[in-house]
Amino acid sequence: MHPMLNIAVRAARSAGEIINRSAENVGRLQINYKSKNDYATEVDRMAEQEIIRIIKAAFPEHAILAEESGEHEGNDYVWIIDPLDGTTNFLHGFPQFAVSIALKLKDRIEIGVIYDPLRDELFTAERGGGAMMNSRKIRVTAQTNMTGALLGTGFPFKNLQHIDAYLGMFKALSIDTAGIRRAGAAALDLAYVASGRLDGFWEIGLQPWDMAAGILLIKEAGGVATDFTFSDTYLDSGNLIAGNPKMHQLIYKAIEPHVTDNLKKKTR
Ligand code: IPD
Ligand code: CA
Ligand code: CA
Repeated sequence: MHPMLNIAVRAARSAGEIINRSAENVGRLQINYKSKNDYATEVDRMAEQEIIRIIKAAFPEHAILAEESGEHEGNDYVWIIDPLDGTTNFLHGFPQFAVSIALKLKDRIEIGVIYDPLRDELFTAERGGGAMMNSRKIRVTAQTNMTGALLGTGFPFKNLQHIDAYLGMFKALSIDTAGIRRAGAAALDLAYVASGRLDGFWEIGLQPWDMAAGILLIKEAGGVATDFTFSDTYLDSGNLIAGNPKMHQLIYKAIEPHVTDNLKKKTR
């Protein structure tokens, strides 16, 4: 295993232990209100500190972009960290949350790790090296049409400016598919696309730490990820369509009529 992937796995597992331990005392946690429908707990912060401690010990010169503590300067390597994706689920005892860690070098995501601490499922990818779940190779599905397809999504619940566009997309896609899931942890949704549990996914307004690791997993598992302009500026625009190559194309076609000029912007 690549030494950097090794460190990412160690950090994700260690953060997962903190999350699992805290899950038993969720009622006693101090909750911080960040903005509308956006919360963080001391668990988010403790898990993030632990991840950063492990990364900095191994690679002190690398930069970091982490959800809770923001940017830490360094060289061209940037670790992109979501210490707890699915905080709202976590706070409600809804068992769907994960740790997400990616490593970007210039414009390329080199490493992606998503860890579900409750199920002990570890999703890993290295650029050019394929994608795995718990050391088993994973692939996107072979689904080629909407009939029978299971899609994942996230609702634009923090910023309602795109709600009408989103509802148009939702309507267009819900008509033909077997189902659409909103499970509440985007990183895990993407790991599920990579591992064939979902045929596709789309969401408006994601942050880099929600998607960086998942996008590499999907690409390494044979899938495609773009933003709403069919380009790879998703980390800047925050908008994402992902799936196996055929499903990606079908989702793109279905939502395209609802993509407003604002959603075509390559930067937020
Ligand atoms: C959120 C989850 C959710 C997605 C939001 C994210 P957080 O992350 O991934 O599924 O819809 O856009 O912000 O805040 O729980 O880390
Ligand atoms: Ca997140
Ligand atoms: Ca988070």
